[in-house]
Amino acid sequence: MIELQKISGDNIDEVTALDVGEKQKELILETTNLRCFADAHMLNADGIPATPLAIYADDTMVGFLMYIYDTLDHESFESEAFYGKKAYFIWHNMIDKNHQGKGFGKLAFEKMLLDIETMPNGEAEYIALFYHKNNVIAKTLYTSFGFVDTGIIQDNSMLAVKNLKEN
Ligand SMILES: CC(C)(COP(=O)(O)OP(=O)(O)OC[C@H]1O[C@@H](n2cnc3c(N)ncnc32)[C@H](O)[C@@H]1OP(=O)(O)O)[C@@H](O)C(=O)NCCC(=O)NCCS
Repeated sequence: MIELQKISGDNIDEVTALDVGEKQKELILETTNLRCFADAHMLNADGIPATPLAIYADDTMVGFLMYIYDTLDHESFESEAFYGKKAYFIWHNMIDKNHQGKGFGKLAFEKMLLDIETMPNGEAEYIALFYHKNNVIAKTLYTSFGFVDTGIIQDNSMLAVKNLKEN
């Protein structure tokens, strides 16, 4: 069974020890789970902290997800229908290299979407994320949940959005 759990002093060391494969590091722009915590602490512009979640398969921690409530107001989105709209932005999504390809990523992502759809930090019209344009597995996964490529590319990564009003 897959569960998403809050991160505390009891499990933070396990989260920071999770890692992707060497060849996958460029797909996540060399970021690390530890760096994500630092970003989450620094970059909560709307005053609402990010939600970092550890992914457990039964009692084993297998991955890490993080999302944040945000406004899609980057200048490169100006001509888009979603410009200025509220969104849940999926900031990080990883399954440890030893646990990939077993269905955990898909089940965890689905649980996180259900969590987001309860609008835990406020109403939103979109869920948004970036994935590296060479990341075929990520693209397949996100497309299967209704994310649509926008054509906006930053740092070799495609912005994809899911319109929650089209559900
Ligand atoms: C992307 C990632 C989170 C997916 O998690 P996972 O547990 O490995 O994936 P799952 O086993 O749940 O498979 C999910 C879907 O991905 C696709 N997929 C999985 N492994 C695949 C492979 N080797 N080749 C092609 N597609 C694959 C399939 O569509 C699969 O769905 P399906 O089984 O219904 O067909 C994980 O591989 C990972 O952490 N990769 C490195 C970090 C990363 O790229 N994160 C995403 C950043 S945007």
